[in-house]
Amino acid sequence: MEMAIVNDDMIPMAQLAPVYQDRGIFFGDGVYEVLRSYGGRIFALDEHLERFSRSLKEIWIEGVDVQEIRRKVVAAFEKAGFDNARCYFHVTRGSEPRNHLPAKGLKPNFFLTVNPLKSHPEEKEHGIKVCTHPDLRWKRCDIKSLNLLPNVMAKMVAEKKGCYEAILVNDAGNITEGSGSAFFAVDAKRKTLITHPLGSEILPSITRSMVVKIAKNCGLSIVEENLTPAQAVACEELVMAVTTKDIVPIVEFDGQTIGSGKCGKHTKALIDEFAKLARG
Ligand code: PDD
Repeated sequence: MEMAIVNDDMIPMAQLAPVYQDRGIFFGDGVYEVLRSYGGRIFALDEHLERFSRSLKEIWIEGVDVQEIRRKVVAAFEKAGFDNARCYFHVTRGSEPRNHLPAKGLKPNFFLTVNPLKSHPEEKEHGIKVCTHPDLRWKRCDIKSLNLLPNVMAKMVAEKKGCYEAILVNDAGNITEGSGSAFFAVDAKRKTLITHPLGSEILPSITRSMVVKIAKNCGLSIVEENLTPAQAVACEELVMAVTTKDIVPIVEFDGQTIGSGKCGKHTKALIDEFAKLARG
């Protein structure tokens, strides 16, 4: 008889819950999204669903009705009833006995959670510390895939160093993005906001795209170019951007204080402008 052991329980394969044979667990074979609400309103739902559709397409998962996912997301936010909430969802290629090559016509699995999100005003004022870490990820970081082991490891190293986030540096010595966030540097003299160009090395972050949109209103123009850690440290302000926290000032980078060591004026302007956008 085909058998499985789950923790301490021996189970005949025929009785094994499909979740244990999810290709997401075996191979990270799936894609996900994280989106949020502000004051009971879902933020950038279209953008997240569009990115999700693209991720599905890029890894050849077929037969997923994204309009149905939209309905589930909206219903979950409504049912949860939190003012500010985070919604995580993923689709995996499906469940089957482990085999690299997926069976044809496998039914994808869907999973979603909603949690309340706390705001951290002190973080926006005092900022966070970051450290650099080699970017050990695969070559399609533009796909929001479940393969996040290098991101998790970078984040754990950051925590050991007393930092909130790891800023990833590629083999060429340039910053790509955070382990779970987008990264910007303010060059106050040139009045520019520097960030890594879109492409296969970074996730097309929704928050990043919002920052690109609002930068002009803050007197900054966007420059998509390579930036080394040494160049970043020489910048007046550094910024982390991610759905769950929107914009957060980085005040320490590899142990070096950035600017005044507090939220700089350009970052503050971006935070205020973003808040307007979030309020709709
Ligand atoms: N992470 N880059 C990476 C590698 C990320 O994992 C994320 C988000 C971002 C920011 O993307 P967005 O602005 O769309 O949130 C950039 C999510 C929140 C996560 O994995 O939990």
